[in-house]
Amino acid sequence: MVDTTDEWIRTRTGIETRYIVEEGQNTSDLGTEAALNALKDANVSPKDVDVIIFATITGDVGFPSTAIFVQKNIEAFNASAFDIQAACTGFLYGMELADALICTGRAKTILLIGGETLSRITDFTDRNTCVLFGDGAGAAVLQPSDDDRGVLATFTKSDGRLYELLKMDGMGTKNPPTSRQYTEKMQYIQMEGRDVFKHAVTCMGDAAELILEKANLTYDDVDLLITHQANIRIIDATAKRIKIPADKVYINVHKYGNTSAASIPIAIDEARKTGRLQSDDVAVLVAFGGGFTWGSAAVRF
Ligand code: UT7
Repeated sequence: MVDTTDEWIRTRTGIETRYIVEEGQNTSDLGTEAALNALKDANVSPKDVDVIIFATITGDVGFPSTAIFVQKNIEAFNASAFDIQAACTGFLYGMELADALICTGRAKTILLIGGETLSRITDFTDRNTCVLFGDGAGAAVLQPSDDDRGVLATFTKSDGRLYELLKMDGMGTKNPPTSRQYTEKMQYIQMEGRDVFKHAVTCMGDAAELILEKANLTYDDVDLLITHQANIRIIDATAKRIKIPADKVYINVHKYGNTSAASIPIAIDEARKTGRLQSDDVAVLVAFGGGFTWGSAAVRF
């Protein structure tokens, strides 16, 4: 479709394969499947869910939220349900919110989902972006814990001055769907890759350092660093910046590409299933995305 090569994509991004939804399949469908798997894994019934938080930039429709469709699909009718939008950092924003709701006693069981169908907002004639993004979803169930496991600390931050570097101008009320929107390709992701790259490394590195301080941990206490999976070179540069050994860094960008808000929960799920994350292990989660937004969390699993 564009002037690129498999070699360029592999060496410049680390991406080898990606998953793309089928026609008729939507973000809520991916989120529903992830949610049902997470509930089963946690042995929690949908009727016991108090809050459903769906982190996404590719909701099914303008409104209602994508969380509403998941609620309907899984029949979690005792819950409130809403979306949050913090691009690739969405899952960590959701985790901070879920942690606060639980710690203040406002909720006991929270279903947190990160899901995207980025293929629907990707311009497959733009080689700067079309080789990067994939579709997917992941989910987690958060509950109060009576031992020292759980969310140890969270951190989130944004800088709205830099929004032009990674954005989608259309599909909102500012630029309603007119022929101009389509001619100017406003329905697609636009990114200044090189600038985003630099900010991602600095912000994720700083966020990882900060969360260790907040949680009173050192890198020796950390079993796994899970960064947002956007580019292998960003992951490597972040790990190098904070001097964490490569064997403590989780990588699956080669399999899924950049799945935005889904990237962290997919990685957590895979790390648990493959034994990279065991019970009592401490993971540092860190992400960066459009906005800019960034954040981190320290979690004892
Ligand atoms: O998820 C949230 C955040 N997103 C990210 O973190 C993504 C951050 N950015 C990146 O991952 C990288 O910047 C990219 C993968 C997007 C681009 O890699 P890069 O090494 O920064 O490349 P570049 O933009 O500096 O471009 C280098 C060259 C350019 O050609 P010239 O001007 O040197 O002749 C591009 O036109 O590579 C060219 N190029 C490509 N060539 C073949 C850009 N995309 C492609 C492509 N195939 N797909």
